Amino acid sequence: MIVSIIGAGRMARGLATRALSGGHTVRLIDRSHKKAADLADELRGMLLGADVHASDAIGVEDADVVVLALPYPAGRDVVADYGTALTGSVLVDICNPVDFSTLDSLVVPPGTSAAEQIAAEAAPGAPVVKAFNTTLASTLVSGQTMGRPLDVLIAGDEPEAKLTVAELASSGGMRPLDMGPLRRARELEGLGLLHISVQEPLGLNWSSAIKILP
Ligand SMILES: NC(=O)c1ccc[n+]([C@@H]2O[C@H](COP(=O)([O-])OP(=O)(O)OC[C@H]3O[C@@H](n4cnc5c(N)ncnc54)[C@H](OP(=O)(O)O)[C@@H]3O)[C@@H](O)[C@H]2O)c1
Repeated sequence: MIVSIIGAGRMARGLATRALSGGHTVRLIDRSHKKAADLADELRGMLLGADVHASDAIGVEDADVVVLALPYPAGRDVVADYGTALTGSVLVDICNPVDFSTLDSLVVPPGTSAAEQIAAEAAPGAPVVKAFNTTLASTLVSGQTMGRPLDVLIAGDEPEAKLTVAELASSGGMRPLDMGPLRRARELEGLGLLHISVQEPLGLNWSSAIKILP
């Protein structure tokens, strides 16, 4: 599949690595074209035969999946700006809308989620799926923790869209788990906040993972 990633930071690096190892085509789109081009060069240098290039906004138009690797609310604003250019793509919201000044709360009000706010801005035919907000960027580079595949917790209202994201995760060597409808993003974002807030106190060094074990 064609996976366009908007943003060229830490999560873009991790998710692009997983998508490329799954054999997908990756396009990187960033407000700095140079930053996207540098990341694409780096990934091609690391992964033999990797089909990854920097693109401009046109790179979303035939994408199967568009990942919003941006802070919140920038991801919501980008979805509103792109409008119908995103129709036909599954939008993957990976954000943790954390108040980074306190690491103590979310910036979205109770009773909703960033994912639902983004879905409210999305054009018809561009379903939003919450995924990857509980996987830390450093762990995505290998897709594993302690020799086990990362769990990718997924929430969304459209089964086909969730299956597409599940295929993206499993082709990259991870374990997708369907958490239910998009409103479950509220709990996933709360879990993301919890995971972030314990990094320092528990000395986790941003390399921990959330796993559901039977
Ligand atoms: N890091 C993690 O372990 C982790 C884990 C799970 C989820 N997430 C979520 O993933 C998202 C990306 O995180 P990250 O760690 O990859 O962040 P990052 O390394 O800071 O990268 C963010 C990217 O977004 C761009 N950006 C920032 N503000 C923007 C704006 N207003 N408009 C357009 N582009 C903008 C940045 O460009 P510039 O360089 O020009 O600023 C950069 O390319 C966040 O929502 C975060 O909550 C992160």
